[in-house]
Amino acid sequence: MSWFANDFTACTANAEPDDHHNVETRQEPAPGVTIQRRSLFRIGGAAALALLVGPGVLRSGKAGASEAGEQFGPLNLEEFIAQADPLARALAGGTEPNEEAYLLHLASLLCRLGPQPLGAERPRRMMRSHYYKPHFAVMQINMAPDAVLPYHDHRDYNGVILGLEGSVRARNFEILGDDLIPPGDKQFQIRQTADTVLEPGRISTLTRRRDNIHDLRAGTQGARLLDVFTFFPGSQGSHYLEVDETPLEDRPAVFTARWRA
Ligand SMILES: [Fe+2]
Repeated sequence: MSWFANDFTACTANAEPDDHHNVETRQEPAPGVTIQRRSLFRIGGAAALALLVGPGVLRSGKAGASEAGEQFGPLNLEEFIAQADPLARALAGGTEPNEEAYLLHLASLLCRLGPQPLGAERPRRMMRSHYYKPHFAVMQINMAPDAVLPYHDHRDYNGVILGLEGSVRARNFEILGDDLIPPGDKQFQIRQTADTVLEPGRISTLTRRRDNIHDLRAGTQGARLLDVFTFFPGSQGSHYLEVDETPLEDRPAVFTARWRA
């Protein structure tokens, strides 16, 4: 089974054009599941392309492809920071910051870095290298085999982690309820929202609300991660949690927690 049409006929068989080059089709591949797809008419080679993008782009087709390729080409750390820092400033200073869009953009830039953006150092103990800008920090986390960076939150900042070497199990959680900082002398509940194995090239993100708590456990070969933080006005910092690893009886993804003294 394919959710995508193989040819123009299949693509437009049930289509109702909503303008001169867009069609919309619907499929129901399983009971209760529908797929809504918008496709572009393939009117025919250059004519269709000219209709969609205009003759100027056609003339510079090779240059356009080259420019597009550069959008995904490799970056060194300085080039990454040069592109990311203004985005971080705009986000942190914005009135309605879209953290999700920002983090995805940042992740796409991170994917273009080589495997050793801060060097290949892998000390026995966990160590970190920092690269700081006012709203922005890049940190390499080196984890020894089976090392644990236990449950902690990220107050007034968000983050993107890229796996560089080895593997880490990253479990993310969110505090239940509206209070993101429950009182320090009381128990509260956290819900597991993600369970990811970070290996080279894999990404994990968290916002000030979504997936904001995580617990990182290195595999038997240890790991090297690149962690990028973006700071918002406030009192940025992380606090460790004590977490009862036994989930609630009636809610298997919910755990009891409290801030570590
Ligand atoms: Fe963290």
